[in-house]
Amino acid sequence: MSTEAKSLHSVGVRMKRKEDPRFLQGKGNYVDDLSFPGMLYLSLVRSTYPHAEIKSIDISEAMKVPGVKAVITGKDLEAAGLGWLPTFHGFDKQMVLAIGKVLFQYQEVAAVFAETRAAAVDGAEAVVVDYAPLPVVADPFTSKTDTVLLRPDRESKTNHIFHWEVGDKDGTARAIASSPKRIKQRLWFQRCHPAPLEPCGCVAYFDTMGRLQFHVTSQAPHVYRTALSLVTGIPEDKIHVISPDLGGGFGNKVPVYPGYVCAIVGALKIGRPVKWIETRTENLTSTGFARDYHMDVEIGATADGKVTALHVATTADHGAFDAAADPSKYPAGIFGIVTGSYAFPVAHAEVDAYFTNKAPGGIAYRCSFRVTEASYAIERGMDILADELGMDAVELRKKNFIRKDQFPYPSALGFTYDSGDYHKTLDVALEKIGYAALLKEQAEKRARGELMGIGVSTFTEVVGAGPSKHFDILGIKMFDSAEIRIHPTGAGIVRTGAKSQGQGHETTWAQVVAEELGLDPQTVMVEEGDTDTAPYGLGTYASRSTPVAGAAIVMAARRIREKARRIAAHLLEVGEADVEWTDYKFQVKGVPTRTVTMKEVAFAAYTNMAQNEPGLEATYYYDPPNMTYPNGAYVSVVDVDRETGETKVRRFVAIDDCGVVINPMIVEGQVHGGLTEGFAMAFIQEIQYDAEGNNLNTNFTDYLVPTSLETPHWETGNTVTPSPHHPMGAKGVGESPNVGSPAAFVNAVIDALSPLGIRHIDMPLSRDKVWRAIRDAEAMKGK
Ligand code: CDP
Repeated sequence: MSTEAKSLHSVGVRMKRKEDPRFLQGKGNYVDDLSFPGMLYLSLVRSTYPHAEIKSIDISEAMKVPGVKAVITGKDLEAAGLGWLPTFHGFDKQMVLAIGKVLFQYQEVAAVFAETRAAAVDGAEAVVVDYAPLPVVADPFTSKTDTVLLRPDRESKTNHIFHWEVGDKDGTARAIASSPKRIKQRLWFQRCHPAPLEPCGCVAYFDTMGRLQFHVTSQAPHVYRTALSLVTGIPEDKIHVISPDLGGGFGNKVPVYPGYVCAIVGALKIGRPVKWIETRTENLTSTGFARDYHMDVEIGATADGKVTALHVATTADHGAFDAAADPSKYPAGIFGIVTGSYAFPVAHAEVDAYFTNKAPGGIAYRCSFRVTEASYAIERGMDILADELGMDAVELRKKNFIRKDQFPYPSALGFTYDSGDYHKTLDVALEKIGYAALLKEQAEKRARGELMGIGVSTFTEVVGAGPSKHFDILGIKMFDSAEIRIHPTGAGIVRTGAKSQGQGHETTWAQVVAEELGLDPQTVMVEEGDTDTAPYGLGTYASRSTPVAGAAIVMAARRIREKARRIAAHLLEVGEADVEWTDYKFQVKGVPTRTVTMKEVAFAAYTNMAQNEPGLEATYYYDPPNMTYPNGAYVSVVDVDRETGETKVRRFVAIDDCGVVINPMIVEGQVHGGLTEGFAMAFIQEIQYDAEGNNLNTNFTDYLVPTSLETPHWETGNTVTPSPHHPMGAKGVGESPNVGSPAAFVNAVIDALSPLGIRHIDMPLSRDKVWRAIRDAEAMKGK
């Protein structure tokens, strides 16, 4: 931006986060901090079996535990018409508490309400459930055979949930068959979990007016209000959803979970407030997981490395219910972005989803609905193709990038990419990491038998769901909203339908309002998460806040500016047409000495409005014309120890292009966080199930979260290609590092191992997996 020198310049400034003093001093206001007189605690009885018939549930001993007030089961809920919940996109329903049988280990079976948390837990342990085990389906390939039908409650008597496809099937098959070079590789993006530091929870009570007050860890409070009204029949005006400070969400706090419904039912039945807070194990074993896509990637190319076609066939493991968090019309999310940054003339993508005896979910973990899976598929695929061609992976990418003069670019799978300069972003990354010198060093090391790898990932994302003609949840269109009120002194408040979970909205939204109106960002308050006060919005996930709610804020601010212009004309005693907005104030056209500031206008809006309507506020509902397409070039350098399989990430350079940046420090923080999560998925994280359907990663000693000791040092930077359709030119960024980085790590490790003839290893690239691959490769070579 060319406004660097101006005093009221707010966008592009590394402003410290307004919310941080509260968080750093332990003064955050989280759901578990809430306490109400007479509050009861809820603990859930969970299934020990992955698949079993429930013969009986005996609550008599539980009711004798001191402090236990009530126990409810699936049958009780069914009698009240609340036995089943619609899933996110409405294609399936999910048991609130098990009815007749359980379908995954840790499934919710009964709810115990007690005076203390300890009594609720003791009560849950005293509930006796008699299970008759059933055969277990622990993977989607077994599920495919339909030998065991998991969901007889459904009309279609098969474990197959859906087939989805996009693109030109026959054209792609023909192009691949006639291509001189072809690769085909199965890639599994393993089941992961967002594991926010604060697990999910709620407090529910009915106030003296009979209104449901529902404090909940929600990334989408308005959607919760509507969904709760539809499910329970409580009129929507009698439901107040409040999502206070959230300790991370990453998509995990989008779905409505059974514990929430049980808390509301308990509050209604017993007439007292009920609190439910998950344990870490409950969070890891029963709430929305991510990924679990088995992807067969095929790419065709000419002999000199021009790509001709892409085909990706995916087998998706959706667990016990189809509770994937995807928009209604997109059962496989936005997986069609799988053509990535490359000019594929033709492509075809298909996804088949299956039920298994695993926890349901498939949520968009820091990801725009399956974009992480898609990005990993294409970025690994391009490296495998480079290997096949004997070509440098950077050269192959550059040869096939969509050029900057091709934007807006219609992709083979139906997207219109808004803007980008992929060559430039990659060049900046290569320059920063010193690619040429690294290649030289690698050649020398290889000659000595050392395993050094360089991995590149040049991803394109698609964020900002979305244009309402394409995207909805349960029929509610995916727009977003902002309401701004400027007070007489020039301070103000902005409310949006988004909901920060730690992304810094209290700071960036204030910067946007301040920039548009020439005000001080320190005196613009941001409030989100309260359905009584915020305008209706679809919430925060899939990096949609800046592209959608951020745009709504800009547009609402511009509405305010239009009204302010009329007041300014009155103050300047000229016609409205003679007033212009320049350098953050109103000025009589051509007369720089005759100006009024927004602060002066704000005061006049309440004290000297003349013929103008009093007050200074506006609301805007923004329906984006397109998604935004942030992109990036990530380069990682690793050293693999041949004897132990241990990988050390020596360097990692991330150059992101998210268009105009509101707050460079916050963007940097977002990138650091996302890269750390990408690193974790690439090397240490997996939710594993054994063949009997037992979850093996139920806590943080088995599901590893990287600490500062393991986490590499991140080197970040930006290129700026504004989005042509966003009113400020901004694109989303929060999920880019999570989406783009796994392939950069894996590509680097495989590059290190390529002299041994190793072409692929599925994540996580644990020390023992890499060691085994080295040992097997060396055995094959007859070492
Ligand atoms: O939806 P979510 O807030 O998770 O993602 P986002 O829109 O990518 O924004 C993440 C944070 O980065 C917010 O505080 C944004 O305002 C900020 N951001 C920014 O400063 N500049 C951008 N171009 C994009 C995001």
